[in-house]
Parts: sequence; C-alpha cells; structure tokens
Amino acid sequence: MQPLLDLDILPDPRVPGSGDPEGQDVDAPKAVGAEVDGTRRVYIETYGCQMNVADSEVVASVLTGEGYGLTLDAASADVILLNTCAIRENAEQKVRRRLAELRHDKRHRGRPMQLGVLGCMAERLRTKLLEEEKLVDLVVGPDAYRDLPRLLDANEGTGQAAVNVQLSREETYAEIAPVRYDTNGLSAFVSIMRGCDNMCAFCVVPFTRGRERSRPSDSILDEVKALVDAGYKEVTVLGQNVNSYRSGENGATVSFAELLYRVSLLSPELRIRYSTSHPKDCSDELLHVHRERTNVCNFIHLPVQHGSTEVLERMRRTYTRDEYLALIERARAIVPGVSFSTDLIAGFCGETEAEHAETLSLMDLVRYDHAFMFAYSERPQTYAARKFVDDVPEEVKKRRLTEIIDRQRAHGLESNRRDVGTTQVVLVEGPSKRSDAQLMGRTDTNKVVVFDRDDRVQKGDYARVRVVDCSSATLHGAFVETTTLAAG
Ligand code: SAH
Ligand code: SF4
Ligand code: F3S
Repeated sequence: MQPLLDLDILPDPRVPGSGDPEGQDVDAPKAVGAEVDGTRRVYIETYGCQMNVADSEVVASVLTGEGYGLTLDAASADVILLNTCAIRENAEQKVRRRLAELRHDKRHRGRPMQLGVLGCMAERLRTKLLEEEKLVDLVVGPDAYRDLPRLLDANEGTGQAAVNVQLSREETYAEIAPVRYDTNGLSAFVSIMRGCDNMCAFCVVPFTRGRERSRPSDSILDEVKALVDAGYKEVTVLGQNVNSYRSGENGATVSFAELLYRVSLLSPELRIRYSTSHPKDCSDELLHVHRERTNVCNFIHLPVQHGSTEVLERMRRTYTRDEYLALIERARAIVPGVSFSTDLIAGFCGETEAEHAETLSLMDLVRYDHAFMFAYSERPQTYAARKFVDDVPEEVKKRRLTEIIDRQRAHGLESNRRDVGTTQVVLVEGPSKRSDAQLMGRTDTNKVVVFDRDDRVQKGDYARVRVVDCSSATLHGAFVETTTLAAG
C-alpha cells in the first residue's frame, strides 16, 4: 500500500495520543426524537438537499436554545417553518403548493400561528415572496438563522412580516450544536462549509447561499467526536464542493483530504461519507485517504452533469469529458473497488442529439451505481438564463431524461447483480420498509440490503450479510454474523 503523504501537517489534539483531549466547544448532540417541550412549539419542514437538512438542525438548535419546543406535527405547532429549495422550478412549485395549504390552515384554525419561509427560496425571492405569498410572516435566508428568535418576536409584536436575507462571508454556525430532532440515532450530517464560488452556468446556489467559506476544523472534529460518543455510526460531511474545503489554522492550511483523514481517526467504527465532490479538484491525496482508511467509504458522489465537452464548457464546469474519465480511471487505480454516483442534467441550452448521446456513452463507460437525473430548468439570475436560450423543447428534454434514467436503471441492476454471491458489511439501520420481519442496512457503497431478522443482530450493529438476490434498487441478503468495521 502506498504511504499517505502530507497529511500530518498539524498535530491534532483530538486524535487519541496526540495531545489534549479536552477543549470541546460544541455541546453534546441532542438526539431528541420527535418532541422538545417549550412554551411555543415549532414545526420545521425541510425541502431540497442534505445541506438544508443540516441547516434545519441548526435552526432547531437556535430556537430550542431560546425556549421554543419542537414538534413533528404541523397541526399542533405555533410556528411553522418551511426550509425551502430553489434549485429547479418544480422544487419551488412544491413549496408554493404547500404554502397554499398552510395559508388555508392558518385562516381556519382557531389560534394564531406564525408561518415562515427559510432557505434558498427565501434568499432568491426576498421581499417579493411577501407580495406573492400573502400570510407569510417571516422570510429568512440561510445565513440569518441566529436572528430567528428576534424575527419571531418582532413579527409577533407587530403583525408585520419580518425579513432577514443578509448573506455573510463568515457565518458557518461553527459552534452551534445541531439538534438532530428527526434522527435514527445512527447517521448524521455534519456541515463543513457553506456557499459556493463555482458559478456553474445553470445553478442558482451561488445566489442563494453566497460565497464559499469553510468551518474551522476544530469545531467539525468536536462535533463528530460528540456524535461518536452519543453512539452514532455514520457521518456524511457536507458542502457544495467539499474538495475546496480550506481552513487556515495555526499558520497551516487544512485541506479536505486532511480533514477527512482526521475525522476518520476519531473512531475506527464510524463510517464516513461526504457530499458533494466537484470533479475539477478531486486530489490524489483525497483518493489516498479512501485507500488507507477502511472507515472512509469506497464510494464517491462525483457529479459529471453531462457527457459532452462542449456542453460542459457551456455549463462552465471547468473540466472536459476526457479529464473526467481520466479522474475515474485514477480513482479506480488508487482505490480498488471504489464505486461512483453522479448527477446528470438533460436538455441544457443548445443540447443537440449528438451531445445527448455523449451523456449516454459516458454513462456506459463509467457505469455508475446510482445517479440523480434532472431535466434542465432555467433559473433566474444564472449565467445560462442571461446568456443562453432555454431552447430544448420540453418533450425532447423529457424523452432524453427518460433515456438517461433507463440507462441508469440497467447499470444499477448490473452493478447489483455483480454483488450477488459476495458478502458485504452493512450498518443495520432497523426494520425494512416492507416488513418488520426483515432488517435493512447499507453497504460501504451505500446500497440498501434487506435480510431476515435474526436474534443475534440489532439496529446499530455492523453485520456481514451474504447477498443472495437483487432488484435494480435493492440487494437481498442472508445474515452471516455481526462484525466490526475494523474487522471488515
Ligand atoms: N454542488 C453540487 C450540486 C448541487 S445542486 C455539485 O456541484 O455537484 C444538485 C444538482 O442539481 C446538481 O448537481 C445538478 O445536477 C442539479 N441542478 C442544479 N441546477 C439545475 C437546474 N437549473 N436544472 C436542473 N438541474 C439542476
Ligand atoms: Fe451549483 Fe456548481 Fe456550486 Fe454545485 S459547484 S452548487 S452545481 S454552482
Ligand atoms: Fe436547493 Fe438550496 Fe440545496 S437551492 S439543492 S436547498 S443549496
């Protein structure tokens, strides 16, 4: 095995044996299940990406810190907050339909309720949202959540809508301990950075989330350590582009590879995943961390977006088809058995039939385990909206998307079939969706495995499971024995 270079730049106090184990400035995680008592109860509904899930946990922390309670039942809440997504037109439509329902409830219920819109739609539409959506009391952007208690008070006192959509260059909510109010107690998201500086032509995120900034590594390590102590078995570290994580500390710079390495040292029994990794700067150092650390999963979400170099250029993704394919090869050479998932967009501005065919042929070359696939949706303000014409007809977009989805389904099934006959280590998450007589868990490569219950195994265990059958979405297995992650 090749040695891992350049990763021990700083002594890390949190790695056992390398210094002072104290100095935790993040509180222990509060796995509170559904309800938290409080005089006024808040219900948070989350749309969009994993980062919004993590942000809702920050919102829960800010509000419970001020005496608010939490509930998972909208009907009994005094405050309803929708943490929204603006990535595609249909994501916004979903929120608007939900707002229409809630407005109706608000008019017809016997007691007052405050209704707030948080997140990316709040940031994109700002006060326009108040004109468009009557009865919204709060509009709060992703960097203004510390201000929520004040905004709620201001609205309650005056009946006036309260707005804070200020973006920040510094805010990372670093020392706020997220309240994981809707958790399985095993898997958690940990946000390591905010914003994005990439300006991909199709994407609204730089406008809704602002400039990229990294959270100090100390606070990240403290949070993960606290999760380990509370019994969590899996963390997914989050950023829009984790490879550009950079934190300057004690005169040195912590890269994403180094951060991941340090996180992986916190516990050999903690599985580590991350999202999202931009192909333009996926370093060999990072690939070596995958190779060296058994608890860093052999799975990389590496969104390609398109298979044609010309389209990638129009999308301003800053890599070519060949560079992307070379990266996949390099990753496979350094990390044996690594698998990939991706994001794909069908019908971007000017996409020809031949360019679309290149997406299909790239899929054939890479053979992703999994993909998130979308029809292009023009977003106001973006480079594409300003410079290009959204000229691929809706029915052509749909047909191309269907072709992409069909191709992916075939590749997913093929990948699952290759696993039949192997033994996989799964983290057991609990009963399967379909039946209490079965358990479900996930493999290192994030595939769902369902197997018959056995007295020797329970939620939270690592289990060796022999894969006996599969569908395109699920592996079916037979329990062999419990194990540890370190033993494999
Ligand atoms: N930061 C991540 C992506 C975040 S958005 C990255 O760079 O990979 C998640 C996905 O939504 C994107 O990867 C893209 O595939 C899709 N997406 C973003 N904007 C879109 C748009 N305007 N229309 C359709 N899909 C879009
Ligand atoms: Fe959007 Fe590109 Fe940033 Fe991802 S890297 S969030 S696609 S601008
Ligand atoms: Fe949506 Fe905002 Fe995430 S636009 S995808 S919730 S960063």
